[in-house]
Amino acid sequence: MNKTLNQIAKEVVAKTILAADESTGTISKRLTSIGVDSTPEVNREYRQMLFTASGIENYVSGVILFDETIRQSSNNEIPFPKLLDEKNISPGIKVDKGTAKFSEDKVDTYTEGADGLEKRLLEYKNLGARFAKWRSVYMISNGSPTQEALDKNAEGLALYAKACQDAGIVPIVEPEVLMDGDHSLEQDKEITIKALSVVFNKLKVYEVHLGGVILKPNMITAGKDNPKQADVETVAQTTLDVLKTTVPFEVSGIAFLSGGQSPDLATGHLNAINKLRNAKPDEYPWRITASFGRALQGEALEAWGGKKENIEKAQKVFIERAEKVYKASLGQL
Ligand code: 13P
Repeated sequence: MNKTLNQIAKEVVAKTILAADESTGTISKRLTSIGVDSTPEVNREYRQMLFTASGIENYVSGVILFDETIRQSSNNEIPFPKLLDEKNISPGIKVDKGTAKFSEDKVDTYTEGADGLEKRLLEYKNLGARFAKWRSVYMISNGSPTQEALDKNAEGLALYAKACQDAGIVPIVEPEVLMDGDHSLEQDKEITIKALSVVFNKLKVYEVHLGGVILKPNMITAGKDNPKQADVETVAQTTLDVLKTTVPFEVSGIAFLSGGQSPDLATGHLNAINKLRNAKPDEYPWRITASFGRALQGEALEAWGGKKENIEKAQKVFIERAEKVYKASLGQL
C-alpha cells in the first residue's frame, strides 16, 4: 500500500536524521581536514563506515544522501538505499544544486536546482529516496538578508516542496540562517522569524500539504564571532519562541541542523529544547529532532582519519554520538 506523505514524514523524524549529503566540494573540505583526498571511492568507504555501524538503526531513522552516494553500494554490492531500507532507515536525497550570489557586491544568495527537478525526483524515487532536502542560506550582515533574498529563497523552497509532494516524496524545507558573523541572539531571532514567516506564507500560496513537510531550521544563537554567547537555557527557550511564532501546528516534524556548533553543544541545545517542549506539549506540538551533519559525524571523521584499522573505533564513536543525539531528541539526556 502507498504510504501517505504524513506517514513517511513521521517515520523519517521518528529518531534522528543523519545528513550525509555533503556535495563534492563539501565532502572534499571535510576529508581534507583529516588529511585525506576525496575521490568517489574514498567518499563511498567513508559513508559505508557510517551506514554499517552496528546499531545505527536504534538511533537514526533517516539518512540524507548526495547524488553520488545514492548510486553507490556497499563492499558486498548492496546499493546504499537498500542497505538503509533493510535497517528500517528511510533514504533521502539532497536535490538543490547549491547557492549563487545575487550580485558580486552582496552576501545574499539564492538556491539553484529547479531545472529538471521533476525528472530528477522521479529518478531518485526509483533509486529508493522517500524524502528530499533543499537548503536556502541567509547570511546576517548590514541590511542582509534583503526582502528580495527572503522572497526568492522562500519561492524556491515552496516550488521544490510542491514538486516533491507531487512525486510522492516528503520535502525537508531548510531555510538556514548562518552562524557566521558577530550578530546577537536577538538579531538571529528577528531574522529567523522573518525567514520562516516568508517561507510558510509561500508554502501556503503553493498549497503545500504541511503534514507532509519536515522543517530543518537553525537553532537561535549569537553569531559565532560574538564573544557574548547565550547560555543553553536561553538558546533553547528563544528557539522554541521562534518556532511557536512561525511554524504551523500541522507540520509533521522539525529537525535542526547543527550549523557549526560542536557536537556537545548542538546535542545539549537539542536536549534543553526537548525538555522545555515536553513540559508544554500543547504549545509545541511537533516532534523535534536533529538532522545534523557535522555534529553527528565530526568525532567519527576524526577517529577514522582515513585508515582501515580505525574503522571499528570510528563506528563506536559515531554510535555513541548518535545515541546521545537520539536521547536529546527525547529530552532524556
Ligand atoms: P550541519 O549539521 O553540519 O549544519 O549540516 C546539516 C545540513 O545538512 C546542512 O544542509
